[in-house]
Amino acid sequence: MERVRLADGLVYGGDYNPEQWPRETWDEDVRLMREAGVNLVTLGVFAWGTVELADGERDWSWLDEAVLLLYENGIGVDLATPTAAPPQWLLTAHPDIAPVLADGYREPAGGRNAWCPASEVYRRYALRHVAALAERYGAHPAVRLWHVGNELGGGNARCHCDRSAADFRTWLQKQRGSLEAVNAAWGTAQWGHRYGSWDEIMPPRGRHGAPNPGLHLDFERYSSDALLAHYLAEKEVLERHSAAPVTTNMMVGAGAQVVDYASWAPHTAIAANDHYTGVNDPLREQDLAFAADRMRGMSPDRRPWLLMESSTGGPSWQRRNRAKDPGEIVRHSLGHVARGSDGAMFFQWRASTSGAEQFHSAMLPHSGTRSRVWKEVVELGRHLAKLAEVRGTAVEGAKAAIVVDDAAGWALQHGLKPHRGLSYGREPRTWHRALWRRQVLCDVVPPGSDFDAYDLVIVPTLLVVGEADAERLRAVPERGGTLLVTYLSGVCDADNQVLTGGFPGAFREVLGAWSDEFYPLQEGERVALDDGSVVEDWTERVHLDGAEAVCGYAASSLAGGPAVTRRVIGDGAAWYVSAALPPEAVDRLADRLAAEAGLPRAVEAEPGLEAVRRVGDDHSYLFLLNHTDTDQNVTAAGRDLLTGEDAGPALTVPAGGVRVIRESVNR
Ligand code: GLA
Repeated sequence: MERVRLADGLVYGGDYNPEQWPRETWDEDVRLMREAGVNLVTLGVFAWGTVELADGERDWSWLDEAVLLLYENGIGVDLATPTAAPPQWLLTAHPDIAPVLADGYREPAGGRNAWCPASEVYRRYALRHVAALAERYGAHPAVRLWHVGNELGGGNARCHCDRSAADFRTWLQKQRGSLEAVNAAWGTAQWGHRYGSWDEIMPPRGRHGAPNPGLHLDFERYSSDALLAHYLAEKEVLERHSAAPVTTNMMVGAGAQVVDYASWAPHTAIAANDHYTGVNDPLREQDLAFAADRMRGMSPDRRPWLLMESSTGGPSWQRRNRAKDPGEIVRHSLGHVARGSDGAMFFQWRASTSGAEQFHSAMLPHSGTRSRVWKEVVELGRHLAKLAEVRGTAVEGAKAAIVVDDAAGWALQHGLKPHRGLSYGREPRTWHRALWRRQVLCDVVPPGSDFDAYDLVIVPTLLVVGEADAERLRAVPERGGTLLVTYLSGVCDADNQVLTGGFPGAFREVLGAWSDEFYPLQEGERVALDDGSVVEDWTERVHLDGAEAVCGYAASSLAGGPAVTRRVIGDGAAWYVSAALPPEAVDRLADRLAAEAGLPRAVEAEPGLEAVRRVGDDHSYLFLLNHTDTDQNVTAAGRDLLTGEDAGPALTVPAGGVRVIRESVNR
C-alpha cells in the first residue's frame, strides 16, 4: 500500500519560511519543532527571489544553512521548487510572463502564480532554477520529498493571451484531429460561428457571458493540461537529479476545482492537498471529510495521501477570519488522517509579522508558546506520534461512492444555463453529508472509476458525462447495486452537447423515467412535495417509463407528477431525484438507500460522531471524532492508542474529543 516513506511515523509539520526571520530565530524554531514533534517541513516554497538575486546569480547560503540545521535536528525537508513566485527582476525584464484575464487585463507582478503556463520564457527560467536547486540538494539526506511550485492554478488557472491561444490550438489539433471535428463538437453552426481556419479559434474572451459551451469546456480542459505539463516538466528535471519522490499541493474541495486534479494525482508519488475550512461553514468538519474522501477517491489504488496544508486558526483570505474552536485543530487533523492522510501539515510554522499573510494563523502563533494554539499543536504532535503504526494503512473499503467531475462542474457553472445560480459543490456535499452523519463511509470518485466494489453509487448534477463512463454507471443496477441519479446529470455528452429524446439522456433508460421540461424555481419560490418536504431551486416535469414514483410534486403546475422515482432491476435499483431536495429529505432518502443496500456503519452513533476505520495487515484502527458538545457512547473495543489503555466494549467519546482504537478484532 505504501509507496513513499516520508517519516518513520505519520508526518507532522508545515511550511517553514526561515528567510523571513533573523538567524537566531531559527534555533528557537527547531527547538520548538522538536518539542511539538515536527518531522517534516516544506522549505523554500517562495524562495526564488531570495536565492536567485539577479539573473543567474544565486546565493544559496541561507538555504544551505537551513537544510543543514533541519537535518541535524532530525527534521525532514519537503523541498519546494519556488516557481510559484517568480523574482521581481524576471517579471520586470519580461512583464509578458504574467497571465491575461478573459477581459484582456494582464495581471501585474505582486501576487503569486503570476505566470502564463504557455510562456516559454517563464518555463525556461523556471526549469533552469529547478535544475540548479535539484543539483544542489537532490542527494541531500534531509530531502524526503519534492514539492513542485505551490497550488498550481491558484491565480493562473486560465490565461487568455495570444500565446495561450496558439497553445490551445495545438492542444485542439491533438485532441480533435481536424477543424471539422472542432466545428461539429462545438456546434459552431449556431450564430454562424463556423471556423474556417485554426487561427480563428480564440480562448473565451470578453465579458458577454455567453461563450460557446463546447469551446468553453475544451478551454478549461486545455488549461488544466497546460498546468499539468508545467508540473511534469519540473518533475522531469527533479527526477534527473534526485531519487526523492515528487508531488505538488493540490486544492481539492467540494466544488469544481481550478484544474482537473483527478488527472494529476497519478503523476504524484503521493497525492497532496491543501484544505482550509470555511470559517462560516456550520458543518466544516463534513466539508473536510468530503475533501478527504475526494483525495482518497483520486489517489491511485486509494493509497494514503498527505494533507500538505491546513490552518491552526483563521486563515487571512476569508471575510472574517475567526480562530478555530478549542479541540478543532486536533479533530480536523485527525479527520484527515482517518480518511487516508498519512500526516497533517499546516500553513505555516511561525506566524509572519509582515507581508500579505501577516495575520494568517500558524503552528507557532504571534502570541507564542503560551497560546492555546501552541498547546494544541503540541498535543496534536503527541497524538500523531502515538499513531505512528497507522502510517501506510488503507482506509476501509467504502461500499458507497459519490461521482464528481470537474468538467461537469465547469459545464454547470458557465454560460447560459436553465438555472445560473447552481453551485456544483452543493448536491455532492448534501449527499455526502447524509452518509457522513450516519457513519457510512463513501469514496468521492471521478467518473472514470471502477464502480464494481460499490453497492450504492450516487451521481449528483453530473451535467456532462462521456458514453464509456455512463455505460459503467448504468451497469451498477444491472449487477444488483443501487444507482441514484439527480437532476442535471447525464444531460450532456462529453462535448457538452445536449443528449436528445428526454432528460437525462445518458440515464433515462436505466432510470425508467424521463423529463421533458425544466422548472427551475425563482428566487424565494418553494414547491412542496407530497412527502412533506419543500424544494427550492430546481424541479422538472417527469414521466414514468418503467419506474415507480416514490414521491411526487404537490404544488405548482407539476402537481401530481413524480419527483423521486425508483426502478427495480432484478436485485438492483435505479433512482431518479428530479428536484433539489432539502438536506433533511436527502437524509431520509439516504437512510433508506443505506438500509436497502446494507451499507455498513463504522459504528452506530448519533450524527456528529464521526467514525472511520483504517485497516493494516495486523490491526484495524477506529478513529472516533466527536464534533458535538455532548459525550457520545459507542460500542468498540481495543487499545486506545492515545491513552495507551484498553477500552470498550462500551466507550465514551467526550464532547469535542477524539479516540483512536486499535481494535481487538481485526477487520
Ligand atoms: C494557500 C497557499 C499558502 C498560503 C495559504 C493561506 O494554501 O498555498 O501559501 O497562502 O493558502 O491560507
